[in-house]
Amino acid sequence: MSEEMANDSPTGIHDLSFATTEFVLPHTALSRHNGTDIAKYHKGIGQRSMSVPAADEDIVTMAAAAAAPVIERHGSDGIRTVVFATESSIDQAKSAGIYVHSLLGLPSATRVVELKQACYGATAALQFALGLVHRDPAQRVLVVAGDVSKYELDSPGEATQGAAAVAMLVGADPALVRIEEPSGVFTADVMDFWRPNYREAALVDGQESIGAYLLAVEGSWKDYAEQGGRALDEFAAFCYHQPFTKMAYKAHRHLLNYCGHGVDEERVARDLGLTTAYNNVIGNSYTASVYLALAALLDQADDLDGRAVGFLSYGSGSVAEFFAGSVVPGYREHLRTEAHRAAIDRRVPIDYARYRRLHEYSFPADGGDHRTPSETTGPFRLAALRDHKRIYETR
Ligand code: COA
Repeated sequence: MSEEMANDSPTGIHDLSFATTEFVLPHTALSRHNGTDIAKYHKGIGQRSMSVPAADEDIVTMAAAAAAPVIERHGSDGIRTVVFATESSIDQAKSAGIYVHSLLGLPSATRVVELKQACYGATAALQFALGLVHRDPAQRVLVVAGDVSKYELDSPGEATQGAAAVAMLVGADPALVRIEEPSGVFTADVMDFWRPNYREAALVDGQESIGAYLLAVEGSWKDYAEQGGRALDEFAAFCYHQPFTKMAYKAHRHLLNYCGHGVDEERVARDLGLTTAYNNVIGNSYTASVYLALAALLDQADDLDGRAVGFLSYGSGSVAEFFAGSVVPGYREHLRTEAHRAAIDRRVPIDYARYRRLHEYSFPADGGDHRTPSETTGPFRLAALRDHKRIYETR
């Protein structure tokens, strides 16, 4: 264990909350539409349903809904930085975090910035936040990660869409998870998934992305080990980025093989089993996905007091990071399990035709005054687009 890992003023995740969309499309509806055997979705890729945003929802409304309970519980004292990680950005210049800052009524003495590197961005945001807190332990940083995963209709990627936002309060003496040094990092220039500025739906080479992900697992673990990280056997569980939940299984088997452990399926299930419960009904939430895995683990595990959890954050293109967290004794008193289940259960199932209309819906780009259909029952909505400006309202 390196010296930093024994740091006696720990920093990490003090609170964690997520929000998702108004609607949900079960994979049974998609399979009825396209004739795919439902077992391919349920077993082959490990997905049961996907969150679908209403016409008046986007990354800002979800992120504000995720962060509002955090601010309600802890207030805004000491929050001098808001970092918004997303790859489904709504503006090329202005940070989506400024809308969230405004909707939550945060103080003007705040810096707000947006970060992008595909699904990895939230981990960069977390690391930046930890650095700021190390510099001044009185400060806290609000990290939000929100995405709408959108692929072409009738493409292989369609079954792996989804949407959600996670909010994390990062600070000293955290109540949930202490984030440790070192990190193992990895970058490779690869075209497995990208979205040129002129496109609303991402382009993906699915098989390439699985291979690139596995290489990144290897590369980031290798660096983690070389930096003096924990041994594989010390971890109670592993939270992987989950573009579809079966990817976590592929990645973990690959890691076990790479470490010369052989693949024991009971061990794989034990290491990952609890981390997929939210992602397999929400779908891919890009930047939020690895932290939804953490939420699912903390919400369901019997007792992780003092146990180590491994995180593998992957963002196509590609950047990956492996790091460890240690779960803070007493964490269970600070969880939001009921609210998380409610966020999933409140979604209204829609049929394929309605999902398709929502998928095809896009704002006119003429700079006119366009009201958005009133659909969401969530706390925040995108009310209109006027003079090319997004107008949000609190319900
Ligand atoms: N019953 C059970 N399993 C079945 C099945 C059936 N009837 N039919 C297929 N499967 C399995 C396949 O064997 C395969 O599993 P394996 O990879 O373990 O062998 C899995 O289902 C998927 O089948 P595949 O033929 O590869 O599906 P696909 O061509 O539709 O692609 C993805 C699947 C996930 C690659 C595609 O949805 C995709 O590209 N998604 C986007 C991924 C992404 O976002 N990447 C970027 C971020 S990491």
